[in-house]
Amino acid sequence: MNQYFGFFADLIKEAPASIEEQEFYYGDTVELYDQICRGDNELPFFLQAIALHGGPVLDLCCGSGRLTIPLARHGTEVTGVDLSPDMLAKLESNLRQKSRRLADRIKLYCQDMTKLDLPEQYGVVLIGATSIRLLQGDFCDFFNSLYDYVRPGGCLCFDMEDLPDGNTDIPKTGELIAASAADQEGRLSILLFQRKIDALQRQACVNMAKILPGTTKKVLLTSTQYRTFGLDEIKAAALSSRFGNIETTAYNGSQEYFCKLVKQEVPASC
Ligand SMILES: C[S@@+](CC[C@H](N)C(=O)[O-])C[C@H]1O[C@@H](n2cnc3c(N)ncnc32)[C@H](O)[C@@H]1O
Repeated sequence: MNQYFGFFADLIKEAPASIEEQEFYYGDTVELYDQICRGDNELPFFLQAIALHGGPVLDLCCGSGRLTIPLARHGTEVTGVDLSPDMLAKLESNLRQKSRRLADRIKLYCQDMTKLDLPEQYGVVLIGATSIRLLQGDFCDFFNSLYDYVRPGGCLCFDMEDLPDGNTDIPKTGELIAASAADQEGRLSILLFQRKIDALQRQACVNMAKILPGTTKKVLLTSTQYRTFGLDEIKAAALSSRFGNIETTAYNGSQEYFCKLVKQEVPASC
């Protein structure tokens, strides 16, 4: 799939000197992430899992702490893991600004979620913001690799967007969305983003741009790609994994699902 499409491709073609392109989750795009991804729709599901299965919590792909910080605020010990040192630095800065006293409840590691090397087990291992779609390998292998990090009686939980294969080869482009938000210095930013889904390639691509009107700053341009898959694929992988079970709850008008895989107190084979 082409990295930039539509309006964003035209922007590069027509005004290359006014654009600064950066890799998503790194550099200046970290603040852009915080400006675009603000809600906490899925937080109640994770809090319920923690209430049922206990802590401590492992927040995989924790990013800048959108969930890590509120989870710690609810009194649980949280370990955050992310591949991007820039996102983790932003988490630390968000923590210093908003909740300095929570710092001793949060541990951070810069690691790949598929190659974890952590010193303990967790009551809840979670992946928020539908970040499971950033996984490149096999879902069942991934669930198995996390199994040993879950305490007996604990769970692995994550949210996902149900995007089963469509019956068309034509990529589907969503609306171009424009929003405004203040940046760290309180200046107005204009944010633009758009998603294109290629059902044949089973990939989605999101283009994003940030404009700071009234400044000489270049337009920040970035793009991210992730795989698309349906709920049935996740269910099959969970059932054939060492967990052997899955519980799903629809939310957001049945487009998104909260999924929970429980590690039995006594392994099924005993
Ligand atoms: C969509 S953001 C989610 C951030 C945060 N959990 C939230 O709810 O806002 C995805 C995060 O996953 C991280 N990431 C991507 N691939 C990863 C990997 N293989 N292992 C660990 N983190 C990864 C990115 O750096 C980014 O911070």
